Amino acid sequence: MRVLAIPGSLRNDSYNAKLLYNSVELFPADVVLDLWAGLKSVPPYDEDDDGVDAPAAVVELRDAIARADAVLIATPEYNHSIPGQLKNAFDWVSRPVATNPMRNKPVAVIGASTSAFGGVWSQAELRKVLGALGARVLDVELAVPHAHERFDQFGRLTDGNFMEQLTAVVDTLLLAVAEREARIELTA
Ligand code: FNR
Repeated sequence: MRVLAIPGSLRNDSYNAKLLYNSVELFPADVVLDLWAGLKSVPPYDEDDDGVDAPAAVVELRDAIARADAVLIATPEYNHSIPGQLKNAFDWVSRPVATNPMRNKPVAVIGASTSAFGGVWSQAELRKVLGALGARVLDVELAVPHAHERFDQFGRLTDGNFMEQLTAVVDTLLLAVAEREARIELTA
């Protein structure tokens, strides 16, 4: 099983990337967790550049999603919404609509922000966008507020409650993949 982890921030010291790193130990040993760090290379969406000659970073992202059994996204919130670079990447992923690799893919959205609310609006909007792509958006939530106070010097979450919530997110993701596999077998 493969899970693609996507941090929605481009920042070197990103709290959202740290949140994803904390999930690594929560997956069973046979799960491959791919961390996709190519967001900065994705150009602004241009329909003229889409199609068979789509930019390399876009092809790479589409392929990485297609290879994955599930996707885990940790996003910051910019001005109460999805950071532009992340929304832009999923605009690329969304085409062609009928065959986009997010279709029916289990996906969990989590996030961290330095504000008191943990980026809940950004997460809600991202879930809406992923729903428009036909993804199987999982009913899980993890919003880490005051992110600058939540990680130690090694990037580990210091609050056990958030670690528990992250465990629940990972478990839900694993269950969704297992159910999907069972359904595919049943209909095969
Ligand atoms: C922010 N931040 C922010 N936080 C929040 O909870 N709600 C918001 O609307 C915003 N708006 C916002 C706009 C812009 C342009 C920036 C740069 C920042 C703060 C944000 O949560 C904080 O910078 C996080 O640390 C970003 O996540 P990473 O980069 O640490 O993953």
